[in-house]
Amino acid sequence: MARKIHTLAGYIYEYQRSVLDPEAFWTQIAETFYWQKKWDKVVEWEFDTPSIKWFTNAKLNITENIFERYLHTKKDKPAIIWEPNDPSEPNITLTYRELYEKTCQFANALKNNGVGKGDRVIIYMPMVPEAAIAMLACARIGAIHSIVFAGFSANSLSDRINDCTATVVLTSDGNFRGAKTIPVKAVVDEALESTSTVEKVIVLERTKTPVTMKPGRDIWWHDAIDDVSAENVAETMDSEDMLFILYTSGSTGKPKGIVHTCAGYMVNCYYTFKNVFQYNDEDVYWCTADVGWITGHSYIVYGPLLAGATTVMYEGVPTHPHPGRFWEIIDKLKVNQFYTAPTAIRALAAYGIDPVLPYKLDSLKVLGTVGEPINEEAWHWYHDHIGKGRCPIVDTWWQTETGAILISPLAGITPTKPAYATLPLPGVQPIIVDNEGNELKGNSVEGNLCIKYPWPSMLRTIYGEHERCQQTYFSTFKGLYFTGDGVKRDEDGYYRILGRVDDVINVSGHRMGTAEVENAINEHPKVMESAVVGYPHPIKGQGIYAFAICDMSDRSEENLKKEIRVTVARIIGPIAKPDLIQIVPGLPKTRSGKIMRRILRKIATGEKDNFGDTSTLLDPDVVTKIIESAGTAS
Ligand code: PRX
Repeated sequence: MARKIHTLAGYIYEYQRSVLDPEAFWTQIAETFYWQKKWDKVVEWEFDTPSIKWFTNAKLNITENIFERYLHTKKDKPAIIWEPNDPSEPNITLTYRELYEKTCQFANALKNNGVGKGDRVIIYMPMVPEAAIAMLACARIGAIHSIVFAGFSANSLSDRINDCTATVVLTSDGNFRGAKTIPVKAVVDEALESTSTVEKVIVLERTKTPVTMKPGRDIWWHDAIDDVSAENVAETMDSEDMLFILYTSGSTGKPKGIVHTCAGYMVNCYYTFKNVFQYNDEDVYWCTADVGWITGHSYIVYGPLLAGATTVMYEGVPTHPHPGRFWEIIDKLKVNQFYTAPTAIRALAAYGIDPVLPYKLDSLKVLGTVGEPINEEAWHWYHDHIGKGRCPIVDTWWQTETGAILISPLAGITPTKPAYATLPLPGVQPIIVDNEGNELKGNSVEGNLCIKYPWPSMLRTIYGEHERCQQTYFSTFKGLYFTGDGVKRDEDGYYRILGRVDDVINVSGHRMGTAEVENAINEHPKVMESAVVGYPHPIKGQGIYAFAICDMSDRSEENLKKEIRVTVARIIGPIAKPDLIQIVPGLPKTRSGKIMRRILRKIATGEKDNFGDTSTLLDPDVVTKIIESAGTAS
């Protein structure tokens, strides 16, 4: 097993080695994989354009590094344990052998339906084993998957299909989410009315929700695999061929298709999974994310399976049918490593400890968090009541763009500190700069978090928009990758992520671009203009606060707010609905027409004065008016 760190001294040694000679460091990890052909160069890079290549000219298939690599030794080991939404439905275990056969069979089914290497396949599915099988089958034949979280609207789905000109959509008749059944096939049908590239839709039967199947286009999953061989020779992929595209929000209205490539992503996901969670061969690991987000890609599917681990996939929500559901599953499946989001911890902590008490939770060894800063109170609740004071918490900082965890404790090996992501993993070179780009050296400093040296799983481009990739990540601070996060390095050298410094709001660990939400709000015919900011929310971390100038002539305020929320849910999805809407007479703008969000952010947090210099505002009185009516936000 490659480079598993066992001691603090080992971490320090590996870290130093990785900085002194990154190529030797990553070579040693990469050597443990199965390559059809090895690389000519470990890394070739420059951050100006940018151009980043890892393991150049190597040939591989990521699925061979999951299946062919492990079938001799782990064929009967559970690869995926799937836990359904409804606890009375039996769970399903797929061994490495079974997952391999299902992957190969579905890979052949995709081929039979015209999918080839390089084609884009949209996955819009529930959290069922078939979602993982779909990803792996795409990877097997070299098709590029792009998963769209199944909570996104038809409009968001069609935008993504159009952006990557996908030819196939994989979906289900419906999704079970808690007490609800969501008719996802109907959403796909609606989305496809505004697309022209999709030739086939493969539909998994999950909820038995009635659906319309369009002849020639729509085909049932069970029919697609009927009588199809479970043998498939993996496609030969170049190290830098695309593995997947995953859309994420940015500070402009249009989501960015983040591109990850085969070899670097594989090596980095595996290495971080093994080391951060300290996974041992018999362990059962559970990450509660959805495969629609990067966490689901890297730490439900690819990372654990590349490490030959047993990974749990849960279909449902934390509170259904009761708020002890997570803890019940941990006991039932004897979960050893548990990885979730601070928002889930806060939501469950709000029920008190009664729902936790019936469960032993004694299988747990490691707890993890991801997606947003964790507040100290939630950290202690998690540590004391779930980890019973015995389990280290790995607060893992990373991004869709980074592909894998970059800053985090190694469970039980390096120190933890409440609310701190602590130290960079080996191979990661963070740097803190001020707004002018000057490096802030030493400890006890606060500034913008950048990375100065490439790591294998970093994004390569934004699909079809390389220039935007350069602008967004590589132009703010010359020669550096800019994360968009603010950070503090404390007196001990530990990193604490302070949150976004750009126009991105982190709602329950999900990224929302303010411009994206504003565009959606402005679609309502009675809205003239709007501005959206984040504000502290006790459960979600950040909530969405919308200030809107509206024509109120023929609506009650209450009805208008309802309609605005429905509009946002229709355009983006329910996750983007504003928590608070305030109808305002105007917005604080500079003479050049720029909205001063700084002021709105303060109003949203309840401040009534200390707005700094407002003399550049076109109409300073508007601020007073907004403050006066702040109580009407609802
Ligand atoms: O602001 C940081 C926050 O989530 C952003 C990345 O969001 P996304 O691409 O959706 O990926 C989330 C899952 C990796 C980051 O820019 N973030 C992520 N992890 C943490 C975090 N903030 C604080 N602490 C973390 N552990």
